[in-house]
Amino acid sequence: MRLFIFLISSLLLFSCEKKKKQCELPKKEEKKFEMYEMSEMAMLMEQMYVDNERLKQRIVDGDTIGKFPQHFLNIHEAVMTDKQENDTFFKEHAASFIKSQELIYEDPQNAKEHFNASIGECVKCHEVKCGGPIVRIKKLYIK
Ligand code: HEC
Repeated sequence: MRLFIFLISSLLLFSCEKKKKQCELPKKEEKKFEMYEMSEMAMLMEQMYVDNERLKQRIVDGDTIGKFPQHFLNIHEAVMTDKQENDTFFKEHAASFIKSQELIYEDPQNAKEHFNASIGECVKCHEVKCGGPIVRIKKLYIK
């Protein structure tokens, strides 16, 4: 019986690991190889991360906000590591995420509030789709 429980839990652990791995940053030593294999969606996500880091800095510094980055719209088409993840949940959340980003540029007076709400949209999708990067994403919040 004990052995059985052990087997089951290691199976569960293993499948969890596998699922998380798809969307987590590769470990250092694997980086070169994994970068090569990154999906369009993963690359777009990394780009959005960097863009939002820069946007955060501009908001904190009180700089001009600029224009909504059009390449974010690729979230609707970019190919994912696992096609099946591009389901209704993903599509709906991608749309509300884009809206929340646009709002930052449409109403720069309240950029900080809109920015934090938008990072909340990243997290909402990630809680269901891809837990790995959540800790990193939360670092984007403006305190
Ligand atoms: C609608 C859902 C959704 C939204 C919104 C979303 N993501 Fe993602 N994110 C995903 C999925 C799904 C993946 C896995 C993509 C793949 O492996 O093809 C991912 C992957 C990532 C990755 C890991 C990429 C890698 O290196 O493999 C990071 C980092 C990331 N997202 C950051 C963000 C940030 C920052 C935001 C908001 C600015 C955001 N995401 C918004 C669904 C979302």
